[in-house]
Amino acid sequence: MPKQRDGSLVLIRGNATPDLAMGICREFGCEPGQVEVSRFPDGEIHVQSHEDLRGKDVFIIQSTCPPVNENLMELLILTDCVKRSSADRITAVIPYFGYARQDRRERGAHVPISAKLIANLIAAAGADRVLTMDLHAEQIQGFFDIPVDHLYGGPVFIDHFRKLEIPDLVVVSPDVGSIKMARAYSKALGARLATVDKRRISAEETEVGFVIGEVEGRNALISDDIIATGGSIAQASRILKDNGVKDIYIAATHPVLVGPAVEKLEASPIKGVFVTDTIPIAGKYLQNRVKVLSSAGLFADAIEQIHRSSTI
Ligand code: R5P
Repeated sequence: MPKQRDGSLVLIRGNATPDLAMGICREFGCEPGQVEVSRFPDGEIHVQSHEDLRGKDVFIIQSTCPPVNENLMELLILTDCVKRSSADRITAVIPYFGYARQDRRERGAHVPISAKLIANLIAAAGADRVLTMDLHAEQIQGFFDIPVDHLYGGPVFIDHFRKLEIPDLVVVSPDVGSIKMARAYSKALGARLATVDKRRISAEETEVGFVIGEVEGRNALISDDIIATGGSIAQASRILKDNGVKDIYIAATHPVLVGPAVEKLEASPIKGVFVTDTIPIAGKYLQNRVKVLSSAGLFADAIEQIHRSSTI
């Protein structure tokens, strides 16, 4: 049964995550709003709404995934279009929030805090709220001067792994930053918990030291927020194998999958890779090798609650 929807709720589909956006629309039994995104001959993005958005509660669904800057710009211009169409409220639904890993100046390095800049841009474009999932660091919520609803992708993976009934499971965090996520998964699955000691050397390179926790003779589920170059997962799975782990599964919310990710996954001793649909995965190889779990239900539930709280 589709969710109840009054006429004031409008879902707008950006071009970054068309399948997820359609999945959310299906949950509401509706079509996406009639907003057209096109290009001028010089590449500029042009947006036009073909429906009256005055007084509407509008949700713009757009991940800022690769091509990151194109998708970000599209989100900003869509938001401006909806704002100038006198919508009552605009929620930027950003299933994957790119730039999140540029969230601090370490040891006085002369670098920007790009995640904060992007948060400012989204609010300046006219978004009243943000709905997102598994931010790289939860503190990024505080970069926005507008309310943020932050979902956890956990329920999607936990439901799936419960059904798989993998015996002697240990959930492994590939680095200290992901330990909170791994702890939640291990608790929900009644599994043990372990972590890998990882140091990041550069955006492309990481170094792995040792495993903390008992893993020998067990099956491992490595949980992470992102697979980007695949380096973290490849190194973690190799060291787990060296420590006597049997089968290795991966649960990563956002399949950024750039650069050598495919080769690294292929060369790694991994039995199954599970991701969500916050970023579309291109290519036949990946579609065969990687199992995509839908987050549409989670987002639809959150959108329903946000919408309902504004109308009661
Ligand atoms: C790091 O802190 C994140 O949680 C991910 O482990 C990391 O961003 C993945 O990147 P890559 O796949 O390039 O190692």
